[in-house]
Amino acid sequence: MPFYIIANWKMNEGKPSAEGYIRMLNSRLKDMPRSRTIIICPPFTHLSRVSRLIRNTRIKLGAQDVSSEHKGAFTGDVPASFVSAEGALFVIVGHSERRRFHGETESIVRMKLIEVLSHKMTPILCIGETKSERSRGLTKKVLKKQLSGTLRGVKLSKKRIIIAYEPVWAISTSKNARHLTSEEISEMLKEVRSLALSHISGKPSELSVIYGGSVDYALSKKMRNARDVNGFLVGGASLDPKKFISIAGA
Ligand code: PGA
Repeated sequence: MPFYIIANWKMNEGKPSAEGYIRMLNSRLKDMPRSRTIIICPPFTHLSRVSRLIRNTRIKLGAQDVSSEHKGAFTGDVPASFVSAEGALFVIVGHSERRRFHGETESIVRMKLIEVLSHKMTPILCIGETKSERSRGLTKKVLKKQLSGTLRGVKLSKKRIIIAYEPVWAISTSKNARHLTSEEISEMLKEVRSLALSHISGKPSELSVIYGGSVDYALSKKMRNARDVNGFLVGGASLDPKKFISIAGA
């Protein structure tokens, strides 16, 4: 079973440059077990460059989003076919920043997921509750709604999707913010796995469920052998290759 370490560069470039970043990361991969699957998700404009840079390495390419549409008059959108042609094997869909800043609903996320699957890429489906939903005790209800809204009726095997639980309130936070403990994260991922299983067929152990939200070296080290955790989606800390390598190698 792969253990995913996914870099979400968001609207940034790896530091000091994509070239230097990939070179440094690649040189450290030899020391990491083969099961560690490293995926870099740069902005659309950097896909082809990063694709070239990772050729002949173990690093895989992912995109941060795709259009919910196939092709046509959708100014600014990038379809799954173009992203796949650049060499992407994975695509993040339903990230909370897309839901929040671009008004993406469950049905849009579902259309994107279908586009990704139909181009033989693996969706990284993000779900998670906001702070206010959590404080009102709605976490489970929200996760259930997000999963059923996006997975309903989609023909899917467990090996074809990664589910990323990212509590919205834990994303891009400072070190001092109160986060979930490693035990709480394990519990949540267990819950997410069981909620997702009502929509996907196959053995439960084949479904990849990962965590995201201010992931750093300390958390990844603590959770290294935790059950029910199949990897991490890393935002801020993935911009610095040294920090990202330390998380990947923890
Ligand atoms: P963060 O971002 O690690 O900066 O919290 C994670 C994400 O949004 O995917």
